[in-house]
Amino acid sequence: MKCSQGKVLIVVMFVVFLVQPFCNKFFNYSVSSNAPHNVWRRIELRHQDLYGDPRIQNEIADLRIIVITYNRADSLSRLLKSLKNALYFGDRIVLDIWLDRSKDGLIDENTYRIASEFQFKHGVKIVHNHTFHVGIYGQWLNTWTPKSNSSEIAVILEDDLTVSPYFYKWLKIVHKKYDKLVEVNGYSLQGISIKHGIGSEGLLEAPFGNIVFLYPVIGTWGFSPNRRNWVKFRDWFEVMLQDEKFQPLVPNIVPTSWYETFIKTGKTEGMWSMWHIYHAWKSREYTVYPNFADHLGLTVNWKEPGIHYGPEIAQESKSPSNNLITTWRAGYENLPENPIRLDVYGNVDAEEDP
Ligand SMILES: *[C@@H]1O[C@H](CO)[C@@H](O)[C@H](O)[C@H]1NC(C)=O
Ligand SMILES: *[C@@H]1O[C@H](CO)[C@@H](O)[C@H](O)[C@H]1NC(C)=O
Ligand SMILES: *[C@@H]1O[C@H](CO)[C@@H](O)[C@H](O)[C@H]1NC(C)=O
Repeated sequence: MKCSQGKVLIVVMFVVFLVQPFCNKFFNYSVSSNAPHNVWRRIELRHQDLYGDPRIQNEIADLRIIVITYNRADSLSRLLKSLKNALYFGDRIVLDIWLDRSKDGLIDENTYRIASEFQFKHGVKIVHNHTFHVGIYGQWLNTWTPKSNSSEIAVILEDDLTVSPYFYKWLKIVHKKYDKLVEVNGYSLQGISIKHGIGSEGLLEAPFGNIVFLYPVIGTWGFSPNRRNWVKFRDWFEVMLQDEKFQPLVPNIVPTSWYETFIKTGKTEGMWSMWHIYHAWKSREYTVYPNFADHLGLTVNWKEPGIHYGPEIAQESKSPSNNLITTWRAGYENLPENPIRLDVYGNVDAEEDP
């Protein structure tokens, strides 16, 4: 059962990366088949001027929730409802909802309506129309522009998630505990993940008794960056974009084989995370994952319909990826000073730091 769940997840993730750019009903890149290094895409990204967005985030916040969406009004509505029901402890909360545009510059009106009509009683809500089509890269890389003295926590949420009422409680605790560790590049909220090493099977989990673990690969089903590492990663990304021969390939992991497939087919624009994975690998950085019993998560992913799953996945996709934390237990706060580290095969990695 667990094993087959792992397989299903692998297929789901691949398919999501594959179709993400094409869920867009207006999508119309014409990719030249003789553009092996996707130069076309890099030029587009450079034109986005990742740091040039003038909409500086001026409001002071303890938590900035960044919701990225395009044309899935119902999904957005479901996510916003879960955000409304979460606990915020009277802190200063900003909810940024970022709407991408089609290649033709259109905002999806239904999605806009859901975003603009949503009442957020816990803080400030701001709906941002992107000024042009930015795709999934721009949505992730250009929506959080913290000032260098900012201590706000940010979390980036794609619209096919819902959050646990306790997601912010968790973020406060883990940021406080682990932001100081130089190797921690952020916090994933998902309770379930594949193992990324090629040939590994089953779901990723740390030995019983560990509330968290460190893992080399980012989990994108709700991710809260460590500001220091995030800025470093974005700086690096901008530099590497200039090198047309560079590809972010990390040996022996499944995402690399997906990315290689996408290079061949000119579809790498669905997989920004490969760059993050590469950067983490080169810099020996890790993401902190929760390790609750039964793969409970601070988010769940709804494996959005509209994507062409096979019958097995279609069956699975009627339900979310896993269950949410709906009860808080004191034990969740028993965080070790130095979390256990797993390698991409899910084995405890005992190797000392260099
Ligand atoms: C998509 O792009 C191709 C090639 O530029 C063009 O011929 C076609 O009309 C476009 N389709 C749409 C729906 O814009
Ligand atoms: C954002 O797009 C919506 C939908 O097209 C439009 O009604 C609204 O005025 C736009 N907002 C801004 C600030 O441009
Ligand atoms: C950060 O710096 C700006 C400008 O110097 C200042 O207005 C702001 O209060 C500072 N914020 C924090 C959290 O210290």
